[in-house]
Amino acid sequence: MAIIGVENAIFGVDDVKLCTKFWDDFGLVPVSITDTESVFEVASGSKVTVMHRDDPRLPAAYAHAQGIRETIWGVDTQESFDKLIADLSSDRELTIDESGTAHFCADDGMPLGLRLWHKREVVSCPDPVNAPGNIQRLNQHRKWRMRAIPKTINHVVFFSKDYVSSFDFFRDRLGFRLTDHSKGVGVFARADGTYEHHSIFWVNTALPVAPDEPGFMHIAFGVEDIDEIMLGANLMTEKGWENTSPNTSGGLSRHRITSALYYYVENPGGGEAEYHADTDYLDDNWIPRAWDWKFGSLLWAHSVPAFFQSDNPNMEMILDPDGASLEEFRGDKAQLVGAAQAAKQ
Ligand SMILES: [Fe+2]
Repeated sequence: MAIIGVENAIFGVDDVKLCTKFWDDFGLVPVSITDTESVFEVASGSKVTVMHRDDPRLPAAYAHAQGIRETIWGVDTQESFDKLIADLSSDRELTIDESGTAHFCADDGMPLGLRLWHKREVVSCPDPVNAPGNIQRLNQHRKWRMRAIPKTINHVVFFSKDYVSSFDFFRDRLGFRLTDHSKGVGVFARADGTYEHHSIFWVNTALPVAPDEPGFMHIAFGVEDIDEIMLGANLMTEKGWENTSPNTSGGLSRHRITSALYYYVENPGGGEAEYHADTDYLDDNWIPRAWDWKFGSLLWAHSVPAFFQSDNPNMEMILDPDGASLEEFRGDKAQLVGAAQAAKQ
């Protein structure tokens, strides 16, 4: 074990004040708020930091759009940290600041950081679920809440022109594990010290809803269950934050890959913020799979976006322990197949 999750997602944005209100409404806990920087955290101790995109403390821009400018990954021990740094500094510029955070870029140019992190343990107690003939709650109502309170940062997602190469770096240099491949659309990877299905997902820029250049897509926060997702969603709607981006998957939805329930909210600081619950949790016994992207992406959605609809879904799924299916999609000419590609043109 070495990397134990996102320690800090550092955003470069146009309007710090607006983004501060957004994360406060979303349910993150404010740690410090000034005119130039806001820091929030969740129960695990993961942070979201918001700065103006021109703030000189940020690394050089990775993309033109707003979004996560630098992802700081937490490392469990000094020994693991030293080992990772020794390897990375062998072939790239790497600096360590006064807080002990190492800064460098992935092979695809994405700014990253590593720092020693004492991740806090998170406790959840989801209400038991009743079904006909299977009574798990007798004379007992479900938990009442006033709002969503995200507990963890489960994953971050970026657009890439060559998602296979982007993944290579994380696997070979940071110890991430392949978890699943959505053929033509992207690859899911899990930090070795985490159990969520994926800690990072790269999405092909050839996807119909994707921009043409690499950059940030979304960040997902773990909540306890469907009630907490929808309390958060309702409250965000009440406060004027919308779920209208073409990147969204149709309101409350469940993925087939990951099994997770999700709801995206448009983030004024770029991309989207996701409430995320009931994901698959994995360890190194997991055997990666390769799926047709339409079939794998959605189990259901409240309102299925047009580009996900298909009269004849390809239900093929193969076990792909070594990631052999990735090779077909390597390179910045990697394209989606069929109607999906046509939809982008
Ligand atoms: Fe997500």
